[in-house]
Amino acid sequence: MSSPVLAVDQGTSGTKALVICPERGVIGSGAAPVRPRYGPGDSVEVDPKSLLTSVIDAGRQALAEAGEPVAAVGLANQGETVLAWDPVSGTPLTEAVVWQDRRSAPICAALSCYSDELTQLTGLPLDPYFAAPKMAWIRRERTREGVVTTTDAWLAHRLTGAFVTDAATASRTQLLDLERVAWSPRALEVFALTDERMPEIVDAAGSVGMTHAFGREIPLTGLLVDQQAALLAQSVTEPGAAKCTYGTGAFLLAQTGHTPCRTRSGLVSCVAWRLDGRTDYCLDGQVYTVASAVRWLTELGVISGAADLDPVGASVPDAGGVTFVPALAGLAAPWWRGDVRGSLSGLGLGTTPGHLVRALCEGIAAQVAELVNAVSLDLGRPLSVLRVDGGLTRSALLMQTQADLLQIPVEVSSLPDVTALGVGALARMGIEPGLTPAQAVPRWEPSTVYEPAIGAAEAAERRGRFRTEVDMLLDRGAA
Ligand code: G3P
Repeated sequence: MSSPVLAVDQGTSGTKALVICPERGVIGSGAAPVRPRYGPGDSVEVDPKSLLTSVIDAGRQALAEAGEPVAAVGLANQGETVLAWDPVSGTPLTEAVVWQDRRSAPICAALSCYSDELTQLTGLPLDPYFAAPKMAWIRRERTREGVVTTTDAWLAHRLTGAFVTDAATASRTQLLDLERVAWSPRALEVFALTDERMPEIVDAAGSVGMTHAFGREIPLTGLLVDQQAALLAQSVTEPGAAKCTYGTGAFLLAQTGHTPCRTRSGLVSCVAWRLDGRTDYCLDGQVYTVASAVRWLTELGVISGAADLDPVGASVPDAGGVTFVPALAGLAAPWWRGDVRGSLSGLGLGTTPGHLVRALCEGIAAQVAELVNAVSLDLGRPLSVLRVDGGLTRSALLMQTQADLLQIPVEVSSLPDVTALGVGALARMGIEPGLTPAQAVPRWEPSTVYEPAIGAAEAAERRGRFRTEVDMLLDRGAA
């Protein structure tokens, strides 16, 4: 019988840890919140120490519940969140600037003449979402001391003393040469980061070092950015399939095989994972505000939380002519218009909370449908099914709306916490050479499959209405 592994998913609003045994499944779990601070000027910061504490707390809880030793630990990270830190002591020198932070927009604007070159080199459009503009902002506005990296490199250093990042997280910086899977001197130069000491780029599975943070010595053998870990856990290991995670935002990723797919549709082309020196690539599209749009509606008092979406939405048969573009933090792929803000139109004296809830679900689903369209164009064939996970997949209203607008089945993961499962699989692969991803991840089994319940003409009409509204916002933003 194989020993269990500890899998830790360090996310935007919390850390989840699981102890996973291949034969018995999840035998221990733990969770610890983290609290990003949303400030003026689109600033989003979090105390780095709270990230580390949450990793240790959640991990120790999971181990205590499991009550048995683990053979390895894996760590997933939130991607494009960065901080400066002292490479000798490991002490943070700044707050962590979270992926949602937009304060580097002026830096991106100033570098716009390099935009095409950077996209060609790195696969990413020039946008404050990615790590490099934030790293440049930290260097310009906060400190020139220490190193400036994504949070995974800092956490791995605090856990083991190593100075590493995995290839997929590196590909979210806009500093990685996508073809060579190596830091790009040219991209570093464009962002004025040439003199930076960059972490070593490592495979997603393999020995990083030993950690004592969880009460006993454990090797850290799995490292991956969170969305890619979810892609792996949903068994999207072959080109042409896709998954969408509905969390703080929604993140659609499609596997594209061993060569990068150059998007013609405004998506992101990046690394899915590198294993045994061999790179898999993926296409990625994002909706910035999903659970955060639900939270916004909650703060307005329209609903009392995500659990209200279905009962409140069920009080009316449709959105009552209301169209909601929930671009509360701007539009990402395929538009890349961080300056645009959301809109609610078609409001009347008869508009109820039910209509607003339905319009929100429709707005989220319509944006994801645009991403699926873009993926299909880039892959040269339509997707036949969409695998989904994340907290908001509990809303039958949202999932049914998604299947309706996509006109393909939506399969909901039967396992919660797929990101942790993905990085747990990598931790296992790191100690069992020869184990393939297909052998390491749990077999894909949807708990629910939502089939389209409306016809193609109605889906096209509803999506057209949403697109018209987006076009108006794009024009208004550009005016
Ligand atoms: O790109 C950011 C995304 O990966 C964050 O995911 O789950 O931490 O909100 P999450």
